[in-house]
Amino acid sequence: MTTDLPALPIRRSGTSDLMLPVLGVGCWAFGGGDYWGPQSQTEVDAVVRSAIEHGCNFFDTAEAYNGGESEKALGVALRGLPRERAIVCTKISPSNTAPATLIAHCEASLRRLQTDYIDLYMVHWPITAHSIHHFAPGATEVPTVAGAFATLQELRRAGKIRHIGVSNFGPQQLTEALATGAPIAVNELPYSLLTRAIEPTILPLCRARGVGVLGYMALLQGVLSDRFAALDELPEYRRRTRHFDSRKTPLARHGLPGCEAETMAALTAIRAIARRIGRPTSDLALQWAVAGEGITSSLCGCRNVAALHANLRAAATPLDPAILAELNQATEPLLAALGPSFDYYENPAHDRTQ
Ligand SMILES: NC(=O)c1ccc[n+]([C@@H]2O[C@H](COP(=O)([O-])OP(=O)(O)OC[C@H]3O[C@@H](n4cnc5c(N)ncnc54)[C@H](OP(=O)(O)O)[C@@H]3O)[C@@H](O)[C@H]2O)c1
Repeated sequence: MTTDLPALPIRRSGTSDLMLPVLGVGCWAFGGGDYWGPQSQTEVDAVVRSAIEHGCNFFDTAEAYNGGESEKALGVALRGLPRERAIVCTKISPSNTAPATLIAHCEASLRRLQTDYIDLYMVHWPITAHSIHHFAPGATEVPTVAGAFATLQELRRAGKIRHIGVSNFGPQQLTEALATGAPIAVNELPYSLLTRAIEPTILPLCRARGVGVLGYMALLQGVLSDRFAALDELPEYRRRTRHFDSRKTPLARHGLPGCEAETMAALTAIRAIARRIGRPTSDLALQWAVAGEGITSSLCGCRNVAALHANLRAAATPLDPAILAELNQATEPLLAALGPSFDYYENPAHDRTQ
């Protein structure tokens, strides 16, 4: 059944020929698992069908999400739908980027996704010893950047992938990747009202180098909604970033006291603006995220059709520039408190994007 929803604007990703709707469906929760808890396939099927029907046909998953179950669930949901209507995007873990391993892992993703090509294939985090450690503790060999991007180009020539992308790459890492000669269509980076660290450096660099930017965690995993009155109410897995006090959250790796007071102050100010104009906080957060200069598309986890439709409607509605300016001002102190690192999961001394 088609619901009356506004059309989503479409944008070109950097200087590539990849065209994306301004909102993409984040599929991390698909397949269920420890992080997000149970997720029914029936609901995934309904979200995917409705998203395609309404032009929100861009799906972001990764081999690492729920041990491959997210890719599998997306593949099941896409079965029987015309393949060309979906833009399927997945990521290879940096630990799996040595040439032979990368090819084998790409084939495994294709099988789980039940397709013969991936529209956008990204390297999930930079290919460095520190970054790899998170994906494969104890791994001793670091694949070379040159080998990884040459292999991605081979996969592209073979038609297995349509576009090459990176994710969480800092300025030096992006420059190094581009120097291999591989065409890089996107850099997927954290971007929300409460995670703005990409603004001064990597975002302008992406724009200058013709690389599109996908902003992820547009709602900071539900913080930017009206659902959780206090930060402590968020499920523990969603309290691992530097916004939160690591002493209260054993799963956090950053080991810092966090910026809970500044986060709550920003959130309170955002919620007050939302209430004043009679909109849900999540609407404002999404409108702000897609309005970012240089942002191609924003990714938001939608676990049911109601959330998808609300998010779609918000992303398709332009934000009043005066409200945008107010939101920027309200979140400046938090931006300053969190500092310039956009690796929100790690202590800045162990920033994986450097
Ligand atoms: N490249 C990377 O390193 C990286 C890292 C993180 C994420 N990502 C990608 O970005 C996507 C988006 O990030 P995310 O899913 O982690 O976080 P998110 O989009 O900020 O938050 C998603 C959560 O927000 C809640 N939500 C969604 N719509 C809502 C609405 N209209 N009203 C109230 N609450 C709403 C839902 O919570 P409930 O589930 O509780 O309903 C949902 O699961 C991911 O799925 C993934 O594809 C990439």
